[in-house]
Amino acid sequence: MAATIALSLHHLTKQYPGVLALDDVSLEFAAGEVHALLGENGAGKSTLIKAIAGAIEVDSGMIRVGGQEYARMTPHLARSLGIEVIYQEFNLVPSLTVAENIFLGDRTGRGILIDQKLMVNRAAEVFRDFEVQIDPLALVRDLPPAQQQIVEIAKAVSKKVRILIMDEPTAPLTVHEVDSMFEIVRRLKQSGVTVLYISHRLEEIFTICGGPRTAGELSGAAHHAVRSCAGTDPCQWQRRPRHFVCGAER
Ligand SMILES: Nc1ncnc2c1ncn2[C@@H]1O[C@H](COP(=O)(O)OP(=O)(O)OP(=O)(O)O)[C@@H](O)[C@H]1O
Ligand SMILES: [Mg+2]
Repeated sequence: MAATIALSLHHLTKQYPGVLALDDVSLEFAAGEVHALLGENGAGKSTLIKAIAGAIEVDSGMIRVGGQEYARMTPHLARSLGIEVIYQEFNLVPSLTVAENIFLGDRTGRGILIDQKLMVNRAAEVFRDFEVQIDPLALVRDLPPAQQQIVEIAKAVSKKVRILIMDEPTAPLTVHEVDSMFEIVRRLKQSGVTVLYISHRLEEIFTICGGPRTAGELSGAAHHAVRSCAGTDPCQWQRRPRHFVCGAER
């Protein structure tokens, strides 16, 4: 039986002044799998995920989510479709508590009043699931970078995420913390979440994605890159100038 496609990108192009960041990118992401997105610095990985999340407007192309086509993605629309992104740059408010950051923008209470107690309890629940100890009432600025990263993940997970995009999420983490994060990613996958995972660390890609395989119908630059990465020389992957899907855990 053919895999259900959670997200597909059709001929996305994005030109910045002097740089063609996305060059006719077409990719498919099967539902409930962990997909790796690889490419050297400046290959366009972050641009690609910003396009998916509606954080930037593409010049041409179309995004399909759950069978619906969207020529113009917006942050609001992406969120309503269950797309959450953990960006390379932290997006937390340092002067707010952990719980306030997680539920920022949510209507957790009645009207504009946010129910503090409910928020703290729900944040504590998410951390219990993750088996990490973070005080929901701590100020984000007082947390070490690794815990801030976990708060970012908790924030995405608390939003009924269907497609979780992680842009080099392990950069600030220790080896042990990376293991815990992988455990969280596996659990998300088991609950049907589709994960797009960006990293420069090839050993991570193998751990989380279970090795390379060509994924779906591809075209343009991405197609060539996938063919190349399915070969045997991993070093070659990083020299490739474009982004590609390389593996998906079964
Ligand atoms: N806002 C912008 N304005 C102009 N050029 C940009 C902008 N954002 C990205 N670029 C350029 O687009 C290209 C792709 O950048 P992008 O950040 O998507 O790469 P990346 O694959 O995420 O790289 P890295 O691995 O370093 O995170 C780069 O040449 C970058 O300099
Ligand atoms: Mg990037």
